[in-house]
Amino acid sequence: MNAPAKAMTAKHFLDLDALDGVTLRKLIDDAKRMKDARGGRPKGAEDDVLPLKGRMLALIFEKPSTRTRISFDVGMRQLGGETMFLDGRDMQFGHGETVGDTARVLSRYVDAVMLRTKRHQSLLELAEASTIPVINGLTDKTHPCQLMADIMTFEEHRGPIAGKTVVWSGAGNNVCASWIHAAVRFKFELRVACPPEIAPDPRLLAWARQEGGSVHMVRDPLEAASGASAVVTDTWVQMSETDQLGEGGTRSRHNSLSRYRVDEKLMSAAKDAIFMHCLPAHRGEEVTDAVMDGPRSVVFDEAENRLHAQKAVLVWAMT
Ligand code: CP
Ligand code: NVA
Repeated sequence: MNAPAKAMTAKHFLDLDALDGVTLRKLIDDAKRMKDARGGRPKGAEDDVLPLKGRMLALIFEKPSTRTRISFDVGMRQLGGETMFLDGRDMQFGHGETVGDTARVLSRYVDAVMLRTKRHQSLLELAEASTIPVINGLTDKTHPCQLMADIMTFEEHRGPIAGKTVVWSGAGNNVCASWIHAAVRFKFELRVACPPEIAPDPRLLAWARQEGGSVHMVRDPLEAASGASAVVTDTWVQMSETDQLGEGGTRSRHNSLSRYRVDEKLMSAAKDAIFMHCLPAHRGEEVTDAVMDGPRSVVFDEAENRLHAQKAVLVWAMT
């Protein structure tokens, strides 16, 4: 009889704080090389080498997605592999089977799993019991794949990110948490401007301090923007909060966040900064049309770079 799968034997991509700066830098450099090798084009010519030929990646989603789903699917195919899309709501783990048992079963069928989940704990349980790599495709707490694309995009427009300043203006949410991880691992200053009731988890800020990172909470977004090389924001209500906040909670969230909206005034205060957003954007809420469509917006480069950055992650995890 086979023993249960041994835990934590695979190379997981769970969060940036779980990996060291050297590994993360290599992944960014690999992603840049892969993009260059295609002449900078996301589509068209096949890669010369197919390092994941014959490999299968399961993509499990408990929440909606456009970019994550498509970029993983296209990326895996460009590397010679295949993907299988699974709606988490249709799987048995949504109906009583444990996440751990699901991991043990998936480990027998496929070569890696990407999970987008409502509960960060599910990601950890999946990784704990899985003998194949598990990749975080967004949880209620973090979104590390987004940050790999964002660091790559920043550097394409503004050069090495180490020593630069990035301003987050908006809710201290899952994407903000991964920006905090990134600030520490890639050694840049992050100023987080957000209302105190939606601030990042104090444990995260304590971790950043302990690691010698430069992460600062700033109340006034205009003050925070001075000298910044990038201004970043994200949706005011994240997917995992929509049901729990309801109409009243959403209204009050919008009221407290309105002064953190990224508009032309904020971008003027940041002078030379690019504008970044993981998308989907709620135009007119966290960002104005003028900024989204303006000359300093790099949001669609970020979306494209999801493809290149995740290809580097897939090759690292699966070979
Ligand atoms: N940025 C991002 O993860 O987008 P999707 O929700 O469309 O995957
Ligand atoms: N913070 C957003 C990101 C979406 C990609 C959310 O979790 O809904």
